[in-house]
Order: sequence, then C-alpha cells, then structure tokens
Amino acid sequence: MNHPAKFPATAMPDSEWWKALWPDPEGILRRLGIDFGTSVLDLCCGDGHFTVPLAHIVGGMGRVMAIDLDKEMLEKAKYRAQRAGVTNGTIRWIECDACSLHNVLPHAPDYVLVANTFHGVPDKPQFAREVFNALKPGGQFAIINWHHRPKEDTTVLGEPRGPQTNLRMTPEQVMDEVLPIGFRLHGVVELPPYHYGIVFDKPKVS
Ligand SMILES: C[S@@+](CC[C@H](N)C(=O)[O-])C[C@H]1O[C@@H](n2cnc3c(N)ncnc32)[C@H](O)[C@@H]1O
Repeated sequence: MNHPAKFPATAMPDSEWWKALWPDPEGILRRLGIDFGTSVLDLCCGDGHFTVPLAHIVGGMGRVMAIDLDKEMLEKAKYRAQRAGVTNGTIRWIECDACSLHNVLPHAPDYVLVANTFHGVPDKPQFAREVFNALKPGGQFAIINWHHRPKEDTTVLGEPRGPQTNLRMTPEQVMDEVLPIGFRLHGVVELPPYHYGIVFDKPKVS
C-alpha cells in the first residue's frame, strides 16, 4: 500500500524468509525484557509476526496495542492472532500514522516496541519524541534493527535481505537520535544472526 505517511524502505517482508530469519519471536521479546503483565505497544506491527507472541507473553493481565497505517497489514495480523487462538479483545488494533500517537492510545503503555522500521523513519528525533510522550513514566522503548552490515552479507534462504546498506544504523547512531529526547540507555542485546535490540528507559520523573 502506498500511503503518503509511510516510511521509506519499510515494506513488510515476505513471510517465507521472515519466518526463517525469526523462528522464535517470543524468545526475542523475552530477551528484550517483556514479561507477563506488561502493557505493550507494537508500533508499526506489520502482519503481526511479533504482535501475536507479545499477546502470549503478556497474558490476560497485560494489554497489547498494535499500530500500523496499512489496513491490509492489520487485517493479516488480526487473522494471524485468530488462528493462534488469541482471545478476542486481547489486542487493540489501531490504524494510524506512528508519528501521530496523540489521542489515539486508550492508555499509556509500559513498553513500546519498534521492530525493523526505525531505519526508514525520516525524522527520527520527532518519532522518538512521539514515543516518549506516549510512554508511561518509567516505561521502556525497544528498537530492533538490522546491524550496520552490507546487505550482500545478510542472506536468508540464499538471498541478500533487509534494508539497503546505507539505511542501516549502528547502536551508537540510534543512541545519537534517541538519547537527546530524554531517554536513558537500558542496554543493547545481540539478536543473531543480523540484528540487535536496543532498549531505552523513560525516566520516572523527566
Ligand atoms: C518492515 S515492516 C516490520 C513489521 C514488524 N514490526 C516486524 O518486524 O515484523 C514495517 C511496517 O511499518 C509500517 N509503517 C510504515 N510507515 C508507517 C507509519 N508512518 N505509521 C505506521 N506504520 C508504518 C508498514 O506498513 C509495515 O507494516
């Protein structure tokens, strides 16, 4: 779908190689500190590859909100959740632009996840500020990114995959965009073979 607000180079990958690259999304989310009872916003959720495991982790106590501006992606994600037996109402699906979160969230989340999308955001400080304002004080913001490696070196099922090389970021480049907003670094986690996760804290008092 071509939406004017859509970030460049953020089309949802084909599910065949995406599943091969991320065989255990639940394990990835646990490594990023998401746990039972957390209220999570999956921002730019795509077809729900991480959203459905999120719902399994946080359980009935937690709440999952999932945002994408592509209606077709949200429909795919809803279908995935249904097939996985996620109880209706566990995930709140919201069709909107990730840069305009003001007034669209039913509550402030404890945790915001942005997977495989930050590289394409044109105004990263503005995006980080939007996330900062949406989060609860004391909440966390996690970005899953491709490592800054040449695209030809990141093959999956025999083909080079992921965003073009010049869009890829090091964890330090992400910090340069996000820390000035007021976040604090919580930690960086290796997510082999080609990704890292970087987690930031929103201070309790800012
Ligand atoms: C590469 S996919 C990643 C999906 C998912 N996070 C994952 O890792 O499996 C990026 C998603 O971001 C969505 N997207 C792009 N620009 C957006 C925007 N401005 N607001 C909300 N969603 C957006 C796209 O529609 C796409 O579904």
